[in-house]
This record gives sequence, structure tokens and C-alpha cells, in this order.
Amino acid sequence: MQLSRRSFLALLGGLGITSAIGFSRTITDANIQPTITEAAMTTFTLPELPYAKTALEPFISAQTFDFHHGKHHNAYVVNLNKLIENTDLAGLSLEDIILKTAGDASKAGVFNNAAQVWNHTFFWNSMKPSGGGKPSGELASAIDASFGSYDKFVEEFKNAGATQFGSGWAWLVVDTDGALKVTKTANAELPMTKGQKALLTLDVWEHAYYLDFQNRRPDFIATFLDKLVNWEFAASNFASAKAKKAA
Ligand SMILES: [Fe+2]
Repeated sequence: MQLSRRSFLALLGGLGITSAIGFSRTITDANIQPTITEAAMTTFTLPELPYAKTALEPFISAQTFDFHHGKHHNAYVVNLNKLIENTDLAGLSLEDIILKTAGDASKAGVFNNAAQVWNHTFFWNSMKPSGGGKPSGELASAIDASFGSYDKFVEEFKNAGATQFGSGWAWLVVDTDGALKVTKTANAELPMTKGQKALLTLDVWEHAYYLDFQNRRPDFIATFLDKLVNWEFAASNFASAKAKKAA
């Protein structure tokens, strides 16, 4: 089938792929691996939500997704593309950009936007409709082994999210020693720069919950754990962390 340039670009757009000629990347899959579709130029695109924007109501509203995904997450993508254009970072994967700019004050803008692109994509996948409650299988056993019990994990996760001063993230990670751990990070910081493998995250920036919960961050954290957590996503990340360690 012959496609005009306009038709070809429209097709790419319909697939959620940037209409740039060259490398265009999607970050829609669970592990946020960019997909290189063609050669030449680098562009990151805003991934689609893994569910409808109304799917997490009444806990997270469509209006929150309009702002959080449509405005905030999109702005990080747009800013990142502008910041790396015509630099030696253009052409690198999102993860490589994050790791190369972490801790470099002169690249703080690139790091913050790249990390926020990664964090938000990971956060959308950390939730699902009718989620929440206890995990099962190997991940449940690992949580019991590392924290003592699921309830103890919940206590630590709630505490991490509630005590992160200002903007940041609460995480369940596989630490460098192989144990599961709850952590919190400020602003755009994320576990990969510490050699940790993220399994699950919760955005505790005010923009994540203010429209639905106002100032009640602890209620937002409890709702995330009780109604929204996507344990299958966490389990797949746990499995890939174990496979990587075994390799
Ligand atoms: Fe956010």
C-alpha cells in the first residue's frame, strides 16, 4: 500500500507514535522500554493511559487525569524533547538520559523532566480499576519475608507517603541486597539512580490528589492501597528483577 507522507504521519499519530521522521519512541508498555520505530531523530511521546480516564472513579476523577496526565505529564514530555534536541542526549533511551544526568546540577532540567516522564508512566501502570488489597503468589511471600507481614508493609508505605515533605513519590522497590523495601523520593528522584528496581509507585505531589482529596494526602494513600494498586504490574516487575539478578 502506498502511503503519502501525510497519510503515513497520520497513521503513526493514530498509533500513538510521534509523527517525526526518524526515531520515534513510545513508552506505553509496562516496563517503559522505548520502541524505536524508524531511524533519524529522537522524540518522546506522551503514552496513553492504560485505562479510560474515568476508569478509576470515584477515587481518581477524569478531571484529575485531564490535568495530571494531559497537562503535567504532557508538559514533562514536551520539555524533555526541547531540552535534548540537538544535544548528545538525543537518541538515548529514557533510562539512559536519566542515569547520565542524575546528580549533574548543570543537567537538572533534563533529569527532572526525563525522570518525571518515567515516574508518571510507571505510576499510571501501578494502578488499575478494581485494584488494591493484598497481593498473592511470590510477591506476597517476598513482602512477608521483607516486612514481616502485608500489614507492616502497608504501615511503612503509608508512613513514607505521608511524611514525604513537599512533592515526591512513595515506592516499593527491590533493594540492592535483593530485599523489598519501601522508600520515598523528593521531586523527580527515582530508585533507578540508587541501583534499586521499582515495583510500584504513588505520586504524592499535590497535583496528584488535590482535586479529589484536597489536603487529605493520607486518605489518598489509603485509597491507593485499598482500591487501586495493580499488584500484577508489581509482580511482573518483581519477576523481571529476579530474572535479571539470576542472569
Ligand atoms: Fe504527578
